[in-house]
Amino acid sequence: MSETSPDRKPRPEIVQRAREILARMTLDEKIGQLHQTPAYPDRMESLGALIKAGSVGSLILASSAFAGTEEQNVAELETLNAAQRIAVNESRLGVPLIFGRDVIHGHRTLFPIPLGQAASWDMALVEEAARIAAREAASRGIHWTFAPMLDIARDPRWGRVSEGAGEDPYLASRLAEAMVHGFQGRTPEELAGPERIVACAKHYVGYGAAIGGRDYDTTEITDNTLRNTYLPPFRAAVDAGVRTVMSGFHDLNGESASGSRYLLTEILRDELGFAGFVVSDWESVAQNVGMRIAADREEAAAISVLAGVDMDMTSGCYLDHLYDLVETGTVPESVLDEAVLRVLVVKLEAGLFENPYTDIDRSAKVLMHADHRKVARDLAARSVVLLKNTDVLPISDAVKKIAVIGPLAEAKAALRGSWSIDGDLSAIVDVASGIKAARPDAELLVESAQADLMVHYATSADVVVVVVGENPIRSGEANDVAEIVLPPGQEQLLEAIAMTGKPVIAVVIAGRPLAIPRVLDLAAAVLYAFHPGTEGGNAIADVISGRVNPSGKLPITMPRSTGQIPVYYNRKSTGRPYMLAVGGVGFPYRDIDAAPLFPFGYGLSYATFSYSGLRIACSDVGADGMVRVSATVANTGTRAGEEVVQCYIQDNVSALTRPVRELVAYERLKLAPGESRDVEFTLGAAELGYFGRDGKHVVESGAFTVWVGGSSDAELSASCVVGGCS
Ligand code: NOJ
Repeated sequence: MSETSPDRKPRPEIVQRAREILARMTLDEKIGQLHQTPAYPDRMESLGALIKAGSVGSLILASSAFAGTEEQNVAELETLNAAQRIAVNESRLGVPLIFGRDVIHGHRTLFPIPLGQAASWDMALVEEAARIAAREAASRGIHWTFAPMLDIARDPRWGRVSEGAGEDPYLASRLAEAMVHGFQGRTPEELAGPERIVACAKHYVGYGAAIGGRDYDTTEITDNTLRNTYLPPFRAAVDAGVRTVMSGFHDLNGESASGSRYLLTEILRDELGFAGFVVSDWESVAQNVGMRIAADREEAAAISVLAGVDMDMTSGCYLDHLYDLVETGTVPESVLDEAVLRVLVVKLEAGLFENPYTDIDRSAKVLMHADHRKVARDLAARSVVLLKNTDVLPISDAVKKIAVIGPLAEAKAALRGSWSIDGDLSAIVDVASGIKAARPDAELLVESAQADLMVHYATSADVVVVVVGENPIRSGEANDVAEIVLPPGQEQLLEAIAMTGKPVIAVVIAGRPLAIPRVLDLAAAVLYAFHPGTEGGNAIADVISGRVNPSGKLPITMPRSTGQIPVYYNRKSTGRPYMLAVGGVGFPYRDIDAAPLFPFGYGLSYATFSYSGLRIACSDVGADGMVRVSATVANTGTRAGEEVVQCYIQDNVSALTRPVRELVAYERLKLAPGESRDVEFTLGAAELGYFGRDGKHVVESGAFTVWVGGSSDAELSASCVVGGCS
């Protein structure tokens, strides 16, 4: 845990205060603290009586289970303050409500979707974006966000791949820390202050492994893969001090994720040391019935509360049944006491007892502040990944006639991303406007509706920017696709534009990696932008014009076709490896190349980088010692640029199979043309070890290979022997 994280454990004086409140509570009041219900505007009056009775612990500011980009009809701040006044002044013990809402990649100012933020590999900026999101959200009465989403995803058909950090546990862990720090702050004082909100690591755990990429579907994950792949980002969030965790909708290895004592108590609390409270996902307590592990809602409530779900999001099963369950002895009251204590502690830590209300005038000064937009633009530009460039980018100042065409050339909604319920649609800068602002000297021919006009414009322009991709409604919750291809007609359009013979720059905007081999064939340059948010058009224009030299790297493998899924860089070594691996035999498929279209970690720059001089200092390395890796990176191009220097390892021989490569460290390096610098990585037990047979973390002595380079295909390697130097 970083020294500046709020302690994982609450401070004793806070726990003491919580205990005192708990001691005065009736059973009904305890149950109330564990009940979260939606703040539908037309329900607020009737909710007043429940709040007064102490029967509500939290309001969720959402109007449906999967809000995403939908219009949200929820109570306004005045109404929320009024509800809070009832809780504080009229309920017997005056325990404040905690208001939760999804603040996933920004509030009014929208940042790139989390997958895009991960593509920036710039965790200082990711933290800053989360801080801004918290600041804006807090100004509108939100105390708690249901983020970060930490589901490792290896199947881009799954629409929720957009909400997470991609396929790699190490990168996702860094994003987890950055977002938790950004939302909650790094000190208890910040967490209690008016500018931060409580974070929630979700969807615990393994939700991203839904079979077939179908949201809510079954997951089956071995303990080994759970610990080494799916749990690490949650561990990182806990270590960073995350105060809440959301249990998932899914079933994992035959248990409900919202009803598994093994996952929620034995692993989350006993192993990971989580001390905050667990909230279920929307009605996931009641869904134990749908899963047929509970006969009715009462049994569903018993399963979840005994497993370790402290707060019931919206199903009402706790409110309706916990009383009887305690009275009949099915659920010991001590279980409720623990749950209530955890909820009270977080409310105290968040400063709700001291500052229960939100200043009505504050949001006007905070929302969409110019500084917020600047960060949104920087982060969006940094998350753009340059996939191909045959010398057309950046567009030279000498080029004076630019066609900006394609279905998304003037799109605003398509830029916002899958969680943009509070985003200001009208403020989004589309790509054509961004390019117009970046190149006021150039003549722009803009068309996004009529294909024949697009072709006509392409014919008369010097260079053609074609903006294609998918709308955010095709990703996010319950929005999966069976084929990860461009929406109908877009490839055809690109074929027609390419026929003009003009240099084509394809800008692909999407919520997932799409299989775009044909786009690569047709375009001279390809930029990939995961839904980039409010400043998306400006950020893309920054890259196209060369104001920003692209440095984004793929946080997820880009498959060549849907049939390759699942394809991810950190696959296990097998006894009969494919040609994909050195010394491999045979091909995985007869009909397509073995390799994906682009590997994890891939992304080009307008500069070029070379790697040399890989050195490993491994003298005196014991099983829990340190390995020092260094390499020289040179900018061999003509422009200043930034490279994400990545370090991968392979444990050559291990008791259990381990991935062919694992990302263990990276650093962003800024280099002037001709400049070279050394990077150094220090690898210790956390980086070299893994969770072994008994679930314990081990570093096995023996040979390791280390690679340093610009993607997971890095070629520069050296080896060392842990537990003795080679
Ligand atoms: C359901 C989603 O799975 C979850 O991510 C979200 O936080 C809740 N709905 C609340 O909106």
